[in-house]
Amino acid sequence: METYGAQIVASPSNDTQVGKKFLAQDPKHTGSLGIAISEALEDCVTHQPDTKYSIGSVFNHVLMHQTIIGQEALKQFEMANVYPDVVIGCIGGGSNFSGFALPFVREKIKGGKKTRVVAVEPTAAPSLTKGIYTYDFGDTGQMTPFVKMHTLGSSFIPAPIHAGGLRYHGMAPIVCALFDAGVIEAVAVPQNPVFAAAIQFTRAEGIAPAPESAHAIRVAIDEALKCKASGEKKVIAFNLSGHGHFDLQGYADYLANKLPDYEYPAEAVAQAVAQLPKVKIAA
Ligand SMILES: Cc1ncc(COP(=O)(O)O)c(C=O)c1O
Repeated sequence: METYGAQIVASPSNDTQVGKKFLAQDPKHTGSLGIAISEALEDCVTHQPDTKYSIGSVFNHVLMHQTIIGQEALKQFEMANVYPDVVIGCIGGGSNFSGFALPFVREKIKGGKKTRVVAVEPTAAPSLTKGIYTYDFGDTGQMTPFVKMHTLGSSFIPAPIHAGGLRYHGMAPIVCALFDAGVIEAVAVPQNPVFAAAIQFTRAEGIAPAPESAHAIRVAIDEALKCKASGEKKVIAFNLSGHGHFDLQGYADYLANKLPDYEYPAEAVAQAVAQLPKVKIAA
């Protein structure tokens, strides 16, 4: 990015009011996706009159834009003359998972397909599997409109796992509604088994996946192992959402046995949930 003339600062930064607020609370703040969104919003709205902020996930229109991936995947399955029994994607705010999975969800709802659709989140930020379903802000600085979602509380800061793209407190409304209705499933996995899957995949395929994507790979391997044990044959599809070329420190830490696994921080989440905005629904 610097090669192209960009200037890079770590979030939270001293460049925004919201960043300063979080640094005042903790000068060694580990940041989060939710804080980075708040800083980007503030910078754009207050300091860059010629710039618009385009959100990258969470809101439903972003998910819709990404569905070109699932549409293409459907076509590829058609060409291969097979159809997946299980569709798997990693999930942070929801756009990657939904971009891949929603066209298969459509086929499930409208076309009667029986496909299992599985979202994979980190145990450090388990918004679908452990969050509550209510109204919350999409960002930690509480600047976005309210969103009805499974949330760990917008003030919750997930542990500094390497899958930075999955360190988010909430979830896209469409994903939450589908999860609530039992159309899709969710599972949470810790980062060490995720990196083990990433390395197994790299050695088999010659592609080092992003730690985010490796969450989906972990569960795809687990599903395949279940089939191996039961003797069942299944077509398992997962989305390889990115490469891990900028995540080699995570690989190095894993190989040096230096990666901690983070469990669901029940107390921190309870505190964050207690601070959720009180929303009255008009009758
Ligand atoms: C490689 C990769 N995969 C998946 C995701 C998760 O995307 P989403 O937050 O839209 O669920 C990210 C997010 O940054 C990512 O970097």
